[in-house]
Amino acid sequence: MAARVAAGPLNAATEFVAGAGGIGHVALTSKNPAKLRSYYATLLDARLTDLIDESIQGVKLRIRFLRVNERHHSVAVAATRPLGLDPIRTRVQHVNSQVAHLEDLTASRARLLQLGFGMALEVGQHTNDRELSYYAITPSGFEWEVGWNALTVDEDSWAPTLHHGISTWGHHPTIGLGGKVRQASSALRSLARREITVEPLSTSDVAADEAAIDKVHALAPRLECRQRKDP
Ligand SMILES: [Fe+2]
Repeated sequence: MAARVAAGPLNAATEFVAGAGGIGHVALTSKNPAKLRSYYATLLDARLTDLIDESIQGVKLRIRFLRVNERHHSVAVAATRPLGLDPIRTRVQHVNSQVAHLEDLTASRARLLQLGFGMALEVGQHTNDRELSYYAITPSGFEWEVGWNALTVDEDSWAPTLHHGISTWGHHPTIGLGGKVRQASSALRSLARREITVEPLSTSDVAADEAAIDKVHALAPRLECRQRKDP
């Protein structure tokens, strides 16, 4: 594939939000989300910020958002329900970079389109961290989310909440029929694939973890948001 490189830097503010919150977040898919959460809890003292239940193309997803600092989440773990599948070509579903100015988001989106990169999800706003973002498709197959204006967590007052749907508006998928077929075949192949876990670093009580999540689901106010409609 020919390199698609811009001639020069963007004429926008071009400032990333990092510092105490780190450089952004990563979203992973897993067939064993409780164990993966246990891994991050052991390794990084990751706490549950909130949950999102979503239905995409008829597949039910539950996403756990984990924080390790003031950033709403540094790791998101997505899993299909009730059967554990992995419909993603790469295990990293997306990587997020947060920009400081809305102009950075709009200018970078325009440049990506100008250079011919695909857009997985168009501009929209998330239900939980309120971040405005779009998702571009990288040549490696994972998505790159560029976001702006995500909220931060006050550790003393935050309580996990359940959201329905990942977006309050936008984030319309642009995946075509070919992409849907590739996702379905990847999901089926994943049934036969063993997911490697790091047992010595996955020592948090998995059963207690899942019970806590069920409690969140039972007690948390159901923040009704529009379920994303596929085209
Ligand atoms: Fe994200």
